[in-house]
Amino acid sequence: MLAWSTACARGAPRPVASVTRAPFGTTDRGESVSAYTLKNANGMEARVLDYGGIIVSLRVPDRHGRFDDVVLGYDSLPAYLRASPYFGAIIGRYGNRIAHGRFTLDGKTYTLAKNNGPNHLHGGLKGFDKVVWDVAPFEHPESVGLVLRYISRDGEEGYPGTLRTTVTYTLTSANELIFDYSATTDRATPVNLTQHSYFNLAGDGKGDILGHVVTLNADRFTPVDSTLIPTGELKSVAGTPFDFRTPTAIGARIDQNDVQLRYGPGYDHNFVLNKSGDGHEPTFAARVYEPGSGRVMEIYTTEPGLQFYSGNFLDGTLHGKQGVVYQRRSGFAMETQHFPDSPNKPAFPSTALRPGESYHSRTIYKFGVQP
Ligand code: GLA
Repeated sequence: MLAWSTACARGAPRPVASVTRAPFGTTDRGESVSAYTLKNANGMEARVLDYGGIIVSLRVPDRHGRFDDVVLGYDSLPAYLRASPYFGAIIGRYGNRIAHGRFTLDGKTYTLAKNNGPNHLHGGLKGFDKVVWDVAPFEHPESVGLVLRYISRDGEEGYPGTLRTTVTYTLTSANELIFDYSATTDRATPVNLTQHSYFNLAGDGKGDILGHVVTLNADRFTPVDSTLIPTGELKSVAGTPFDFRTPTAIGARIDQNDVQLRYGPGYDHNFVLNKSGDGHEPTFAARVYEPGSGRVMEIYTTEPGLQFYSGNFLDGTLHGKQGVVYQRRSGFAMETQHFPDSPNKPAFPSTALRPGESYHSRTIYKFGVQP
C-alpha cells in the first residue's frame, strides 16, 4: 500500500504486478530448476522454486515501509538438495506424522517409510517437497501467481492411487499469499497437503522468534506421545501453555515444566481450530505480531487444524541465506492441515480421498503492520 500511495502522490504510475523466471540450478537427476519471482503492486515479493514449490524468500514491508525477507531458506539449490528441514516447501502426500508408517484404508493395509523415528513424516523419503512441479505462471491486475502441478504415481512412497495435485500460489494486491490445494485420485488414499514455510517476521537471520506474539483461534489441541503422535484426545487449552486465545509471546511459557512441551521440545503441536460457517470459506486461524518491526501475519484456512512448530529442531548446524546460522527457534511454522495420524484415528476428521471425489483446501497468509 505504502509504495503504491507514495508513487501515486508523486504522480508516478502504479507499479505493475509481475512474474519473472530465472534459472536456479539442476537437480541430481538433471532436471532444470527455475525460480519465479512474484511481485505485487506494493512491492511485496515472493520467490518460488518449481522444485518442491519452495518459497525461497518473501519480502514484506515493516511499519516504516522497509522490506525484509521474512522466511528461512537457502541461496542455492545444492543446499536444498543436501539437507533441508522442509524450508518453504509444499508437503504431501500426507503432511505431518502417520504412526509406525502404517495405515489401513478400505480394508487394505499400507506400509510407508519410517523417516522420523518410528513414524512416517511429511510424505516420506521423497515427498512433494523434493519433486519438480510443472509450473504455469499467471498475471492479473490485482493478483499474480503460479499454478503448480504434480502427478504422484500409484504406489509412490507406498501410497495407493495416482494422485493428480494442483497447488496455486497467489500473491494479491492486498498483501495476501493464498494457497489453493486440489487433488483427485484413482484409488482411495489419504491426502493432507500443506505449506512448510518458516517465518521470522523480524527478518530472516534476525535472532530467535520467542518475542513474536501469537494468537491462535483454538480452544483445544491434540496432545501427543513422546514420538509426537496424537493420543486421540482433544484437550482444552485452558490453564495450559497451549492457550494462545489471547495474544501471548511464543517464549512466555515455552520452557515451562509441562510434559507436552518436553515432548516438543517446545511447541510442535496440532491445534484444533474453532470453526464457524460451512467449512468452504477460510476462517481465522492465527495471528502473529512481531513488536520490533510491527509486522503482522494473519492466517485464514478451510483446514480443521494448524501445526504450530517453534523451530525446536534447528540447532545451529544449518547455514541459510547469506550465511546466517539457524539457531534453535530462529523460525516458526504454522502448517494448516488435517490432524496428524488421521488415517489411524477414526474419530479425527477424515483425510481419505476416493475416486470421483475432489480435494480442496485454501489457506491465506495475510501480511500487514501494527503501529
Ligand atoms: C513439522 C514437524 C516437526 C518437524 C518439522 C521439520 O513441523 O511437526 O516435528 O519435523 O516439521 O523439522
